[in-house]
Amino acid sequence: MSSTVDWESYPREAEAAVAAAGSLDAIEDVRVQYLGRRSALALALREVRDRETGMLLNGIRQKVEALVADREQALADAELDRRLREEVVDVTLPGDELAVGHLHPITQVRRMVENAFLGLGYEVRDDREVETVEYNFDKLAFDEWHPARSPRASFFFDDRHVLRTETSPSQIHAMEERPPPLYMVSIGRVYRRDAITATRYPIFHQFEGLAVDRGLTLADLKGTLLHVMRQLYGPERRVRFRTHYFPFTEPSIEPDVSCGICGGAGCRTCKFTGWIEMGGAGMVDPRVFENVGLDPEAWGGFAFGCGLERTAQLRHDIPDIRALWEGDLRVLRQF
Ligand code: DAH
Repeated sequence: MSSTVDWESYPREAEAAVAAAGSLDAIEDVRVQYLGRRSALALALREVRDRETGMLLNGIRQKVEALVADREQALADAELDRRLREEVVDVTLPGDELAVGHLHPITQVRRMVENAFLGLGYEVRDDREVETVEYNFDKLAFDEWHPARSPRASFFFDDRHVLRTETSPSQIHAMEERPPPLYMVSIGRVYRRDAITATRYPIFHQFEGLAVDRGLTLADLKGTLLHVMRQLYGPERRVRFRTHYFPFTEPSIEPDVSCGICGGAGCRTCKFTGWIEMGGAGMVDPRVFENVGLDPEAWGGFAFGCGLERTAQLRHDIPDIRALWEGDLRVLRQF
């Protein structure tokens, strides 16, 4: 086989090919062709039987290897020069500005609520969104017939598990965790099977407060809500209570806050009543104390629950609740 190769012209051909190689890829091809395992040279070296041929072929190999290495080095240097020249980074140029976002209005309100209650010494907590029927309804003294227990009103997983319909189960968790005195606010998502409209959304947020101590009265509840409403809406606000019914409070009330648009004179926002409904509240029902093993004779308590969407809507005059869930930046950037 080696006899068919002209070993005198082999290095010259290789030299020409090396000279013609204009890139690192091309020089690699040349190396494979003239020095690689299947090259004529490598095959011939494998067949060598005498010292003379061996010296000849190894001489050729060393020469071609040196040619390839030199060219490779030259090409690599040229490439480095080119990159140093072309890929200059001007470190004095101003950088790309990072877009800075801001908090969603619901998060803003959530933090305001947290701050208002932290200022009163309340503990802020966050509970599970998948609740048991026991905590969402039974221990809160919901009667068997209560409409919220219907799968048409609430999202059930099975007979015993439901997406919480309110933050009130936090009351039970808090009272079961440790003995009173207890002052807590729980904030988070709740779920109801409502159709999406301008005023309702099947997911929304509530904050739920609970105070358990000795000798608490409706006056304490009213003072607490007045403080919080003034923190959220401004120092001029007034609070009033209307009687109502909730399973887990007795008496139960609905707190109203005076309308900030008209100052109480009556306008479209308050439907010309001067007052805006804020949620539900009341004195903890003795049955609830019994359900968590507390003596209703020894302890008193008040509780309240309000929607965060409603608070955000009132603060920013947002007429449609869907705007808070659609994530449209043209809307959200305004707040
Ligand atoms: N959980 C009630 C609701 O979602 C609101 C509520 C009413 C919460 C009375 C309370 C309360 O803590 O005492 O409609």
